[in-house]
Amino acid sequence: MTAPLLNVENLNASYGAAQILFDLSFEIGRGEVVALMGRNGAGKSTTMKAIMGLMARRGRTTFDGVDISRMRPYEIARRGLGFTPEDRRIFVDLTVMENLDIGRQPPRRFADGTAAPVWTPQRLFTLFPNLGEMPDRPGGGMSGGEQQMLTVARTLMGNPLLVLLDEPSEGVAPLIVEQMANTIVELKKEGLSILLSEQNMHFAELVSDRVYLLEKGQIRWNGTMKELAGNVEIQRNYLTV
Ligand SMILES: Nc1ncnc2c1ncn2[C@@H]1O[C@H](COP(=O)(O)OP(=O)(O)OP(=O)(O)O)[C@@H](O)[C@H]1O
Ligand SMILES: [Mg+2]
Repeated sequence: MTAPLLNVENLNASYGAAQILFDLSFEIGRGEVVALMGRNGAGKSTTMKAIMGLMARRGRTTFDGVDISRMRPYEIARRGLGFTPEDRRIFVDLTVMENLDIGRQPPRRFADGTAAPVWTPQRLFTLFPNLGEMPDRPGGGMSGGEQQMLTVARTLMGNPLLVLLDEPSEGVAPLIVEQMANTIVELKKEGLSILLSEQNMHFAELVSDRVYLLEKGQIRWNGTMKELAGNVEIQRNYLTV
């Protein structure tokens, strides 16, 4: 068995004196799509921020075999960990193409020498046809769902080894949710590894291999997406269904 791409051991995180995460341990294998699920305030976004080094945290996190637990956010990003935060921050005055250019980073390799997927605006436009239809549109002139797609596409322009997507389906119209799910399935086929935070069971079921369920900053359950889909009691306990 190869080592996990991301290995999180006993992650604790706090905002000032308020501890939010308690001893989270989980892993993501190369090529996997893993969902971090739980109700509002469960700690999904905090988990992503703590992994990215954006807040005070303790524990040991390794990424592609390297300990990133004490690295600064820019160092972690430079190693190929992409992050799309929940407040989709695109540049409203810049065009779609210019927003993509800002995310551009060189192609990357894993520690074992294999190449990570390489993205160009052209490749991304086939995955996100809506963006391909409006490369010159200012970011501010796009719908919420289109902006969401642009933030994901911009993160991919960094050619990440792994991406953390914080609630890609949130606040997005149902039709776009389906498109976003299809796109994530395509990204997985291209070999991308993804951790996504999600409350939407339908969306998570369409895209994820495995699931960790969070409640009050602790992992309460983990298993395959198939197991969760077939277990209504667990869904009722930890999700809003
Ligand atoms: N900046 C902050 N300062 C203090 N507490 C915070 C801060 N941000 C979040 N929290 C608290 O941390 C806990 C976890 O919040 P978090 O945003 O990680 O939840 P979440 O699972 O992402 O929820 P949602 O589905 O609503 O996005 C909540 O109790 C929240 O009130
Ligand atoms: Mg959140």
